[in-house]
Amino acid sequence: MENKTVSSRKHEDNASRLTELRDSLHQCDEIIIDALLMRGKIIEDIMSFKEEHGMPVLQPEQEARQNSWLSERLSGKRFSEEIRDIFHCIRENSKRIQARRLFDYNIFLIGFMGAGKSTMTGYMQTLFAMKTIEMDEVIASREGMSISDIFEVHGEAYFRSLETALLSELKGESNVLVSCGGGAPMREENVAEMKKSGRIVLLTAAPETILGRVKDEHSRPILENNKSVGFISSLMEKRRPKYEAAADLTVATDGKTPLEICNDIIDGLLKLDRIQESSAR
Ligand code: S3P
Repeated sequence: MENKTVSSRKHEDNASRLTELRDSLHQCDEIIIDALLMRGKIIEDIMSFKEEHGMPVLQPEQEARQNSWLSERLSGKRFSEEIRDIFHCIRENSKRIQARRLFDYNIFLIGFMGAGKSTMTGYMQTLFAMKTIEMDEVIASREGMSISDIFEVHGEAYFRSLETALLSELKGESNVLVSCGGGAPMREENVAEMKKSGRIVLLTAAPETILGRVKDEHSRPILENNKSVGFISSLMEKRRPKYEAAADLTVATDGKTPLEICNDIIDGLLKLDRIQESSAR
């Protein structure tokens, strides 16, 4: 009897110690949530501040500073790997907050093969952690074959209808960055689909620049046996009217770094917002 009482008291003590520990953990979670709410608000304040003072949205050197601070702060600490992982997640989500505030619509990058659509999509994905769609990649993976094979087996018209179908799937989405195939804006219905959910940014480059970028690649059936400035400029001229008619914004890429191109895209899009706002007033 005596023994039973002792063991049940011990059991109760253990249970209450466990409750205490869980309460402490819960307090930590409360602190984390409050800190994250505060962090989100500070990000919005920083964005408003930059906007008010005409400062560039992107300041990649700040991310480098934060990274070196984090490494120093965690050096020799327990759980440093886990905390680093959590910080990575926090940063990605902060970038998403920023991207959603900047662009509440989809962004369609169009332009000639080699104009920099895929490069800029990858670059902007790193900076804004936005959802991205590389049209050629999605189509190739759905069809289970390369773009060159789709052209060869089914023909260009079949490939073009796959592009149209994919674009119409994006109607309900927002804040997605889409790298369009170079020929996608040639169909008016494709441009109409893009306009329904977003803005169209045309990236341009001189034929010589394009040739330099594509000469060692073999993924584009249209250029495969046509890698010359002459062919590129004549196809570019043929396409130019449609590209230009579709574009809400045009950004030249020659001789610029991805950061410079990205800044041009963001500035141009924000300017369009301001024009739209003032004409709505
Ligand atoms: C094409 C461009 C390619 C790809 C296909 C056809 C075109 O995409 O869709 O080879 O007609 O301009 P990129 O512009 O991404 O190379």
